[in-house]
Amino acid sequence: MNKVIRINKTIKQYNKRISVAGDKSLSIRWALLASQAIGSSRAYNLLNSEDIQNTLNCLKKLGIKLKFKKNYCEIKGNGIHGFKIKQNLTLNAGNSGTLGRLIMGLLIHYPLKIKITGDKSLSKRDFSRIIKPLEKFGAKFYPQNKSRLPITVMGSKNIKPIKYIENRGSAQCKSSIMLGALNTNGITKIKAKKSRDHTEILFKYLKIPTKIKLKKNYDYIEVRGKKNFKSINYNVPSDISSSAFFIVLTLLTKNSKILIKNVNINPTRTGIINILNRMGANIIFKNKKRYKGELIADIFVKSAKKLNSINCPTKWNSSAIDEFLIIFLIAARAKGVSVFKNLSELNQKESPRLNLGSKILNMMGIKTELTKSSIKIFGKPELKLKNQYEIKNFSKDHRIFMMSTVAALTLGGNWKIHNPESIKTSFPSFLKLIKKLGGSLQT
Ligand code: S3P
Repeated sequence: MNKVIRINKTIKQYNKRISVAGDKSLSIRWALLASQAIGSSRAYNLLNSEDIQNTLNCLKKLGIKLKFKKNYCEIKGNGIHGFKIKQNLTLNAGNSGTLGRLIMGLLIHYPLKIKITGDKSLSKRDFSRIIKPLEKFGAKFYPQNKSRLPITVMGSKNIKPIKYIENRGSAQCKSSIMLGALNTNGITKIKAKKSRDHTEILFKYLKIPTKIKLKKNYDYIEVRGKKNFKSINYNVPSDISSSAFFIVLTLLTKNSKILIKNVNINPTRTGIINILNRMGANIIFKNKKRYKGELIADIFVKSAKKLNSINCPTKWNSSAIDEFLIIFLIAARAKGVSVFKNLSELNQKESPRLNLGSKILNMMGIKTELTKSSIKIFGKPELKLKNQYEIKNFSKDHRIFMMSTVAALTLGGNWKIHNPESIKTSFPSFLKLIKKLGGSLQT
């Protein structure tokens, strides 16, 4: 069924506190690591979205016992060589690059053919970035030289540690190799361009023999394999990438305030806060605390009085990589011309977000200059929309759907936005929260 939402009213002022769903990166990592631990692990506030359901389904197919109840998830790990794999197994990673890439790291130790599939969007994304280093370990991939799913992994009992240089700043690549190292004899050495470090934090917390040296642009990570580890109970903090839509909604709604509770503010994820504060926002962290190595806080946001353009420092790209679409919306309302560079990776996501973000801004009457890796956005501080806007195929990407919803609720116009079901991948409660704040939309 072709579902759509219609929005033809901007949201009125509000003053609310909300909780957004659990962090997606942490939820997937917790589940994969719990499957490798010895004994039962429990997670509370695990993100209940399709990406996580797919993660749990893959683990079940790999012989892992688990249950997902209303308020917790329990996974029984059998240690680092604990998968029980049937012949001709197919695992479906759905829409999730993180799941598809990370799980391959765990599969390289099993000398059986396992086929990995994904949805239409994931099947367009590059897997050679992960296949190449995993081949160095000694795994094989079929068909040879193929870089898109479906791909079959054929592991080996004779996996050797590797040296690997990760220079895209991809946490998925880094993490896949770290997971591959877990069950490998010897030390795997990684030089990785800075990216989110949740896997490193969990490895340290679990006392997996890991050495980390932080340098200015790169991190040096060493993982010694073959050490089993204990189970991990975990309270998943909320996702800053989901919070981002409410941060921007509040900045663009007059006389409003919001407090978003208990969000993971790991500095490798807070690029959006640096960028928006540099543009004139005043976003504050309250009640900062450490939780099992991660930094958590409540995020407090007030409507922005004045927003200025930014020449965005590329050092913030990796820590804001999932938030650029919604940042572009702020740039559209800022005074002056904003510039974002070295962003070719944005076209490698669930959809080509750099290109599509630019198209949506153009639709709204905002001038952009786009190259393969950069965008200039000519902001209009007084931007008020009056026309009809329809977002159709683009919004199969969950973050494009949510960005369009925020645009409709803050800039005016009559909007028809297709594919509301796309939010199921990362943030199923998004529209419920919009309604809680008073947003009016017809389905
Ligand atoms: C993620 C890493 C990022 C990010 C994705 C989640 C992760 O991807 O865009 O949404 O959990 O490791 P890349 O590793 O491709 O940069």
